[in-house]
Amino acid sequence: MLERPGLYIHYPWCVKKCPYCDFNSHPIKGDVDQEAYRLALEADWAAQSQTSDVFASVFFGGGTPSLFHPKHIGRLLDKLPIAADAEITLEVNPGTQEYMEFSEYRSAGINRLSVGAQSFDEHKLKRLGRIHQSTDTTTAFIEARNAGFKNINLDLMWGLPEQTVADALSDLQIAIDLQPEHISWYQLTIEAKTEFAKRTPILPMEQEIYDMEQAGLALLTEAGFHRYEVSAFAKSDQLCKHNLNYWQFGDYVGLGAGAHGKHSTRQDQKLIAFRSSKPSQPRLYMANPKITEQQQVAADDLILEFMMNALRLTDGVDWRIFKQRTGLTQASILPVWENLVTRDLVRADRCAPTIKGTRYLDSVLQQFI
Ligand SMILES: C[S@@+](CC[C@H](N)C(=O)[O-])C[C@H]1O[C@@H](n2cnc3c(N)ncnc32)[C@H](O)[C@@H]1O
Ligand code: SF4
Repeated sequence: MLERPGLYIHYPWCVKKCPYCDFNSHPIKGDVDQEAYRLALEADWAAQSQTSDVFASVFFGGGTPSLFHPKHIGRLLDKLPIAADAEITLEVNPGTQEYMEFSEYRSAGINRLSVGAQSFDEHKLKRLGRIHQSTDTTTAFIEARNAGFKNINLDLMWGLPEQTVADALSDLQIAIDLQPEHISWYQLTIEAKTEFAKRTPILPMEQEIYDMEQAGLALLTEAGFHRYEVSAFAKSDQLCKHNLNYWQFGDYVGLGAGAHGKHSTRQDQKLIAFRSSKPSQPRLYMANPKITEQQQVAADDLILEFMMNALRLTDGVDWRIFKQRTGLTQASILPVWENLVTRDLVRADRCAPTIKGTRYLDSVLQQFI
């Protein structure tokens, strides 16, 4: 690793699979041996660890990591080299409250929560196959605050089946009124091989989607949330450090079933980046936690991968970061960049999109293929 990496830890089980979800998540059948899973994560870490690593952030994602007992999270964190000022996030499904005590997660070392609210409308939650109700989210949020969490994100989705602009704004307003530090506002996408791909619900029409997005962005801005990434909005400086590292194309270690990692190194002055992945089936992973598949990122893909991340940031990155993380200079993409500048899709002074570029990000990225 060339700089302080992030650490992603995957917990692959959920109470129930949601019909829109294509994450590596498996409905729990019977009991999960959490102790065995923690030991597998530790073995995974022992095999991947490099003495120089000190993590700037840790993210427990899923799946539903709020089903992972705080005692296991605490024991695992104790074994990892984590910077004193690290951001340590846990994804929380509000439907798992009966299993958890927020204060225990805090004592275990978690200092940021990401709560999967999705919507505050009971019909929408049902349509999304969620296991929770709207009040579970508000209760979870209040309990988390009472337990001392000062950094909380709410995940919301929009563009939901039969959703109107007013419905989407109402969801946002309820989230805003809870006063979280961060809101992730994702447009629902229909992912291949999901239940929604097989039986696709009727989604709002293009014009309605456009109106919903414009109205939602205006409401978030008015409430003091700064859009720093396509779907991420933060109050003042409470950006998600862990995700920021992905978007700035930094390195990270991935532990757990189906987790991915990225690391870069220098050989003869040349930067080489590798992607790693773990077996995604929990049973396979637990039987072989030390297996990590590694693949070098081809030089041509490096630019595209960098742009796919960096141009999601509304303010992009400095060209210095482009050089540092791809080993290339701006000169290597100058004709493409200048063409995009003339079309007002990217900025001339920075590796960043314009407002129009953020809106037409897919066409911008096409130019780097
Ligand atoms: C890794 S998921 C898991 C969070 C947690 N398991 C939960 O669902 O409460 C993180 C977020 O991605 C978003 N998401 C998942 N599938 C999506 C899809 N098909 N389209 C848009 N957003 C999606 C949801 O808002 C979700 O909270
Ligand atoms: S709870 Fe989260 S991870 Fe699990 S299936 Fe639903 S969206 Fe996916």
